[in-house]
Amino acid sequence: MKAIEFADVSFRYEEEGPFAVRHLNFSVEEGEFVAVLGHNGSGKSTLARLANGLLTPDEGQIRVLGTLLGDKNLYDVRRNVGVVFQNPDNQTVATIVEDDVAFGAENVGLAREEIGRRIDFALKAVGMEEYRTSTVARLSGGQKQRVAIAGVLALKPKIIILDESTAMLDPRGRREIVDVVTRLNQEEGITVLLITHFLEEALLADRAVVMNRGELVMEGTPRAVFARKEELLTYNLALPRIGVICERLRAGGMNVADTLDAEVLAKEIAQCVS
Ligand SMILES: Nc1ncnc2c1ncn2[C@@H]1O[C@H](COP(=O)(O)OP(=O)(O)O)[C@@H](O)[C@H]1O
Ligand SMILES: [Mg+2]
Repeated sequence: MKAIEFADVSFRYEEEGPFAVRHLNFSVEEGEFVAVLGHNGSGKSTLARLANGLLTPDEGQIRVLGTLLGDKNLYDVRRNVGVVFQNPDNQTVATIVEDDVAFGAENVGLAREEIGRRIDFALKAVGMEEYRTSTVARLSGGQKQRVAIAGVLALKPKIIILDESTAMLDPRGRREIVDVVTRLNQEEGITVLLITHFLEEALLADRAVVMNRGELVMEGTPRAVFARKEELLTYNLALPRIGVICERLRAGGMNVADTLDAEVLAKEIAQCVS
């Protein structure tokens, strides 16, 4: 079954205004890990808000797990589609980690023991079980985002959308988040939509799509998309530095393959020079 399906969806924030999303045809299979790439203003957040029913399309139809989005089923949709946003500090509601994780689950009226089980599961899934009684404010950005993800997980969504959830983190925090979602996808079978403007974060995804001015302009495996460097530049997306280094090495006569993994590249260079 398809987890998310957009059929010719258009949306604009203001009547007569420009379309934030235009004739979007896009779908994500259940269990798939899809990266959505695009420059600022390309429509990525609009896509995320449409997918969980925060916004309603002006044209076209959206289905989540086969169900057409409408006013009546928004509650179910939001339980199935968890969204993690950009700023970790805007997403915490409680002082202590476990209370924060429990917040959403409490709001949907789950029994106390069930909430306890879900806190266990969610904190374990994001590798934060040791911080259960910690103060949220003392955590690093990456840890706060993992707590935010745990709060979403406690609702047991089938689909998780991360809308630039790594944008405010340092490289280490970003890696923590990408690792966590990759694991959730592989081990829990959760469908993941990772929205980012850091191309390297898309590397582990099954598929990458590129948005530009509200339209879907490229699609393929991350490597196939990255290989179209000139085209990416026209959408204001630059290959990460390591990609550029690979190219320069080849131009200099060193026969290395394209990779975004620094360790892999280091090994290749070592082989070339030994
Ligand atoms: N709340 C809003 N009101 C009016 N226009 C908006 C609003 N949010 C986004 N937009 C416009 O919609 C377009 C797409 O924005 P957005 O989906 O936020 O892109 P992205 O997440 O890729 O940066 C942009 O032109 C943006 O200015
Ligand atoms: Mg955005």
